[in-house]
Amino acid sequence: MAQADMTPPEGAAADWTVPQDWSAYTPGEHAMWDRLFERQAAMLPGRVVPEFLEGLDILRMARPGIPDFAELSERLMKRTGWQVVAVPGLVPDRVFFAHLANRRFVAGRFIRRPEQIDYLQEPDVFHDVFGHVPLLTHPAFADYMQAYGEGGLRADGLGSIDHLARLYWYTVEFGLMRHGDDLRLYGAGIVSSFGESVFALEDASPNRIGFDLKRLMRTQYRIDDYQQSYFVIDSFEDLLRKTSDVDFGPIYRELETESDVAPDVVLAQDRVYHRGSQDHARAKMPC
Ligand code: PHE
Ligand code: CO
Repeated sequence: MAQADMTPPEGAAADWTVPQDWSAYTPGEHAMWDRLFERQAAMLPGRVVPEFLEGLDILRMARPGIPDFAELSERLMKRTGWQVVAVPGLVPDRVFFAHLANRRFVAGRFIRRPEQIDYLQEPDVFHDVFGHVPLLTHPAFADYMQAYGEGGLRADGLGSIDHLARLYWYTVEFGLMRHGDDLRLYGAGIVSSFGESVFALEDASPNRIGFDLKRLMRTQYRIDDYQQSYFVIDSFEDLLRKTSDVDFGPIYRELETESDVAPDVVLAQDRVYHRGSQDHARAKMPC
């Protein structure tokens, strides 16, 4: 997300958007999308929240090829008033927040190369569109994303972006939801990842802990490997209630005096769904 320079790159508009230029994709790039799509479409039923699969359906994303953002936007607009717009790469925080606050989701337009199929650092069109866009068809999630954008602009003014960013990370990117006695995936970083869509739900290594706003904003996260803790919400409506109906101002002030929590730690106050062995993280530690 972070990008210090506020000047848009050559060829981008003042709001940093660029045309998707859909007709420029090569057959190889469309084939890469199809390969990723088929792999995740086989993996996700029974693991992802049903709202995600409904979103794929509403947006007709099962058709072959990289989706055309204009067409996605048209369908989304009818449902929840959202649009998908292309950007050349990472954009400055305020630009990102302002787009969300106006119900525009900014997506990368490039697709990973075959040798990056399982790992790449910058979000590509598969992560951004397959991972993030289906849930924008869900009214409560759509409202949450807009509220987050407004909250981001406010947090920036208060010097609290780092705390707020953890909320995005542990919900929008890596969130889990309770589903009867089970857990389901909804975070885009998980649902677009072949390895993490199994790890997050089924591996003994990570903690799975009930959502608690302040707790989550204190928790550091990993950007270089699977998460060591995941946080579980009850529903999108509940997530929206516990964030957009709350004034974060006093919470940010409190957090300034409280210590961060390391990614693997379980606190006495936590509602623990699963206490992780952390075997995965330990095995990867340099000795
Ligand atoms: N209610 C938050 C505030 O007062 C804004 C927010 C809403 C943040 C939803 C995240 C998600 O700043
Ligand atoms: Co993302």
